[in-house]
Amino acid sequence: MTNGIRYNPTAAHKLLDDQLVTAMRDKVLAARDEALADIDLMKSGGSIPNEKQPLDAGFINLPAELLADYENNGDDSLVGNITQAATELRARIDRFVVLGIGGSYMGARALFEALCHPFHNELSRENRDGVPRIYFEGNNLDNDVQRCLLELLESQCTDANDVAQRWGLTVISKSGGTLETAVAFRLFRAALERLYGADSAEARSCVIPVTGETGKLRDFSTVKQYPHVFPIPDGVGGRFSVFTAVGLLPAAMLGIDIVALLQGAADMTEQLRNAPPGENTVIDYVVTAALFEEQGMDVRVLSTWGKRLEALGLWYDQLLSESLGKHERGATPITGVNTRDLHSRGQQHQEERRDKLITNVIVEQPSAALLDVPTVPDGENQDQLNVHADKTLPELLSAAINGTNKAYADDKRPTADILLPRVDAYCMGQLLQMLMLATVVEGQLIGINPYGQPGVEAYKQNMNQILNS
Ligand code: PA5
Repeated sequence: MTNGIRYNPTAAHKLLDDQLVTAMRDKVLAARDEALADIDLMKSGGSIPNEKQPLDAGFINLPAELLADYENNGDDSLVGNITQAATELRARIDRFVVLGIGGSYMGARALFEALCHPFHNELSRENRDGVPRIYFEGNNLDNDVQRCLLELLESQCTDANDVAQRWGLTVISKSGGTLETAVAFRLFRAALERLYGADSAEARSCVIPVTGETGKLRDFSTVKQYPHVFPIPDGVGGRFSVFTAVGLLPAAMLGIDIVALLQGAADMTEQLRNAPPGENTVIDYVVTAALFEEQGMDVRVLSTWGKRLEALGLWYDQLLSESLGKHERGATPITGVNTRDLHSRGQQHQEERRDKLITNVIVEQPSAALLDVPTVPDGENQDQLNVHADKTLPELLSAAINGTNKAYADDKRPTADILLPRVDAYCMGQLLQMLMLATVVEGQLIGINPYGQPGVEAYKQNMNQILNS
């Protein structure tokens, strides 16, 4: 793997006994082997022991499998089909709504925020390279926001013959029965039909469902005969599905290089299989996390240095908490965005209970041209910034990172760094896969099945009971 993401736990490990690290490595390697063996168990078609159910290890090899399919079958592969459907729809619409909740939208949002222009929706169609504006809905029951988005679409899009006034949507639900998404789908479908004509072929051609092989949304899609319906395979769980059509279709709509994304993810799985500790991002990450958790540091702060990775952090919050927060176990994830949150959470992270492991996510190379501190005439130098004139924003950020890490180290508070050479599709593929793999390996290590989310069922059942009474 060349020029990929790296993990550096040196500062944290200074607070640990070397023997503890060595012993934990052996345990994590055994957990890795067990997690990888689950793929064969799934494929064997044999009976799966109760404690391993549900078993959704299909995500581990999926990126490599999709790339092989693409190489062998080109346009007829799943990647080829997604690319064609996205290219074709992109050319016909200027706004694209992603309906989905939890694992069915958070990965796409992370990719959008990381890889697209920070003010994407404000740009002209030309400056967006023909990529539609994007909106995320169906992830709440918030009347006002949903109403306002519908009103925006209906007021801005009145002439279906003008591409700048056309919109479409994807509805993403693995189960096909999630209430929030299903209600939003009805509402947005009705709005689409008001623009393109009730139950018209035109309205249907602007909808792409992504769903499991069975379920209410699958049944509805069959009845409606949507031109494209993409599957979420059995054996890949919701929050592990970013490299199925769940993440790939929105990414392709956004013009993101989905092959590079998959390559990053496939390389990360390969690294997990073959690289020794010390060069194995997933193993090293889990060793560090597990050792500090054993010492009572069970709050895991993902401290992203820059705004574009906040949604990545929120995606990881969901992944970690829904996967391992079971049977009174599991770390509590928190996403921070620095330097912003140094002015909100900084005090607490520096001085409160010693229950936190801070993992910095640091991007080494900005994507846009560098800004630096302007020089002003002496008479206007009341802010005394002339002393820093010509220093770039990344230089200031670097000082903030080093200063913060030093303050934590001086107080014996553990920090580790995930380093991205740059934010691109390849590195994002690596990072997402790294965090999914780490979650599964950690689950094996602490004896928690990372798949499934039995706890979420309670609210759903109660809500349905209340609605039906
Ligand atoms: O990780 C999970 O499985 C969940 O967060 C689901 O993604 C979420 O509940 C949405 O489910 P569905 O895709 O079935 O609508």
